Amino acid sequence: MTTVSMTLNGKKVSANVEDRTLLVHYIREAQNLTGTHVGCDTSQCGACVVHVNGEAVKSCSMLAVQANGADVTTVEGLASGGELHPVQAAFREHHGLQCGFCTPGMIMTAVDMIRRHGANLDEKTIRHELEGNICRCTGYHNIVKAIKAAADQMAAMKTAAE
Ligand code: FES
Ligand code: FES
Repeated sequence: MTTVSMTLNGKKVSANVEDRTLLVHYIREAQNLTGTHVGCDTSQCGACVVHVNGEAVKSCSMLAVQANGADVTTVEGLASGGELHPVQAAFREHHGLQCGFCTPGMIMTAVDMIRRHGANLDEKTIRHELEGNICRCTGYHNIVKAIKAAADQMAAMKTAAE
């Protein structure tokens, strides 16, 4: 057993877990944050995407001990001050979900791609970047629309703040 400590959604947390514990199980079982989903456990579906030190990572592809000392954000950590994150709001507005199982991973992937591409994020890039995230319900069209809308809105907010 090893003590794994990290900053999770801005809060210092710690838990004693087996060395083989995956980050996704640490988040869901040791820290009781079940917004991060497990769709496959084999790095295929993207339902488990979280941010580790600001970058999107499939949390089933990483051991919890590898995230010791890291800054980790899950979908529960995106909203602030009672307001949804713009990407969450865009998914709701543009009907980017049906059953919602893939949605946490989709949203965490989207936030990371918007951070990297900003206003240059176009539909082709969004579709390419979503290759690691599987949705069995929506046909992707509204997910792409929601991400594009959020990227445009966040770029406009950034420009207005400058
Ligand atoms: Fe991690 Fe499917 S549960 S990619
Ligand atoms: Fe059901 Fe994507 S909304 S899997």
